[in-house]
Amino acid sequence: MIIGKRVRLRGIERSDIPRFVEWLNDPEVAQGLSMVLPLSTTQEETWFDNLHNMPKEEHPMGIEVHTPNGWMLVGNLSLMNINWRNRLAEVGIFIGEKRFWNQGYGHDAMVLMLRHAFFNLGLNRVFLRVFETNPRAVHSYEKAGFVHEGRMRQAQYQDGKFVDVLLMSVLRSEWQDKDSV
Ligand SMILES: CC(C)(COP(=O)(O)OP(=O)(O)OC[C@H]1O[C@@H](n2cnc3c(N)ncnc32)[C@H](O)[C@@H]1OP(=O)(O)O)[C@@H](O)C(=O)NCCC(=O)NCCS
Repeated sequence: MIIGKRVRLRGIERSDIPRFVEWLNDPEVAQGLSMVLPLSTTQEETWFDNLHNMPKEEHPMGIEVHTPNGWMLVGNLSLMNINWRNRLAEVGIFIGEKRFWNQGYGHDAMVLMLRHAFFNLGLNRVFLRVFETNPRAVHSYEKAGFVHEGRMRQAQYQDGKFVDVLLMSVLRSEWQDKDSV
């Protein structure tokens, strides 16, 4: 487990699947993730069953936040397509419990993931893609240390129009860890 002050990251369990299905079918959550088709429990179970074919370092981690009632699962994040020769990876994140948005939990989870990527896995570069229509996510990533490095013009079709996809990254040499997380 990767433990922070308000947030911790843990392995996901089969019993988490119903919440993932609920969250990923929420249009407001799905909007930022390019998910336009309904997601069934069967599809999610198949995805879960196939995780053992993926490198362990790319397994999704559940994001848990500390509440007065104990630790609560609110979303997940994962590293993707780790390239060990170039020591880079892409990262993806969602918080499905919308009442936990805008409270810095996404930021904290991302800081924990960057700490893990740089100090446990020895990666040098972590990047992500985010739609220009998702200012909450962009702001959260900027706070975590990501810098803007590019824009894929009209790379996403969303709500009947093309929008740009922003590329953001953080390098080990420039990243400042945060004691508060
Ligand atoms: C994107 C996501 C992970 C961010 O996590 P979060 O915990 O909600 O975000 P944080 O609290 O860390 O940061 C959000 C920041 O954006 C700000 N913000 C919110 N709405 C905003 C807007 N419309 N414009 C500009 N800034 C905005 C918040 O005020 C906050 O900044 P502050 O801490 O300086 O006040 C989460 O909202 C989420 O999962 N959304 C749905 C799925 C998704 O879009 N995933 C990302 C795909 S790239």
